[in-house]
Amino acid sequence: MSLVVTGATGQLGRLVVEGLLAAGVPAGEIAAVVRSEEKAAGFAARGVELRVADYSAPESLAAAFRAGDRVLFVSGSEVGQRVAQHRAVIDAAKAAGVALLAYTGVLGGPDADFTLADEHKVTERAILDSGLPYTFLRNGWYHENYTGMLAPVLEHGAVVASAGEGRVASASRADYAAAAVAVLTGEGHENAVYELSGDEAWSLAEYAAEVARQSGKDVVYRAVTPEQNREVLAGAGVPAPFVDVLVDVDAAIERGLLARRSGDLARLIGRPTTPIADAIAEALK
Ligand SMILES: NC(=O)c1ccc[n+]([C@@H]2O[C@H](COP(=O)([O-])OP(=O)(O)OC[C@H]3O[C@@H](n4cnc5c(N)ncnc54)[C@H](OP(=O)(O)O)[C@@H]3O)[C@@H](O)[C@H]2O)c1
Repeated sequence: MSLVVTGATGQLGRLVVEGLLAAGVPAGEIAAVVRSEEKAAGFAARGVELRVADYSAPESLAAAFRAGDRVLFVSGSEVGQRVAQHRAVIDAAKAAGVALLAYTGVLGGPDADFTLADEHKVTERAILDSGLPYTFLRNGWYHENYTGMLAPVLEHGAVVASAGEGRVASASRADYAAAAVAVLTGEGHENAVYELSGDEAWSLAEYAAEVARQSGKDVVYRAVTPEQNREVLAGAGVPAPFVDVLVDVDAAIERGLLARRSGDLARLIGRPTTPIADAIAEALK
């Protein structure tokens, strides 16, 4: 039996493997499912088992899981291909007979009526249909979706979005990773659904004001129409299909879908979630 993390060389997956090690899980009991052994060399050097597999290559997934494994299935990043990819992962987990399949979905689950949520909803349904013991970690937005974009914000003195007055209950990637560690190492999470989000929801105007306060620069929120946002994103080089996805997300934020706060994340990690101000400070360093 191993604690298995897929997407282990991604930003979230790395934090989960580090979190398991920091929690005292022996490296030999952790398996990292990765596409590139090279990218995971640091984990292998510390005794973490590497299992090489690609969600797009079902045959490669046959050796990714073993009977009794407790698996964190990190959703893929190739939007549009994820239904087939995720079905292949679920089939492999089922064939192996894993003890738990914890999946990183999206806040709101079936109620998330925006495009980016579609593949997560199909995946959750497929996991339910598999009959495997599951945990749904329905992740809200990462602070880093915003703080990762601070350079252009500071350059133009504006946070540009078509999210109106909508609020975002984001948390740090590290908070979501800590929740995954709690589920993998804890008991009683079988067939549980967690709606994970930050303790506080902020508006983009408040976010811009906090960036201005901490940076000492003039930064305002410029609320634009979806059409204007499309032009801004396309002008910034965002690929056309993803422009639509991002504009659709802003509309969901305006409708309040990413502002939900259940307290599940703070409860799972046993501490308050990281404030957005801390993530801004970290990004400004
Ligand atoms: N909640 C949010 O705000 C938010 C934001 C962005 C994304 N997400 C979702 O959460 C997931 C984790 O976030 P993240 O920040 O860690 O994203 P990330 O850094 O892009 O990591 C994605 C991980 O998925 C792996 N992956 C992608 N396609 C794969 C495939 N075909 N086969 C095997 N592995 C594959 C990647 O492998 P490589 O390391 O080999 O590339 C990587 O390890 C994302 O994949 C996405 O589904 C959530």
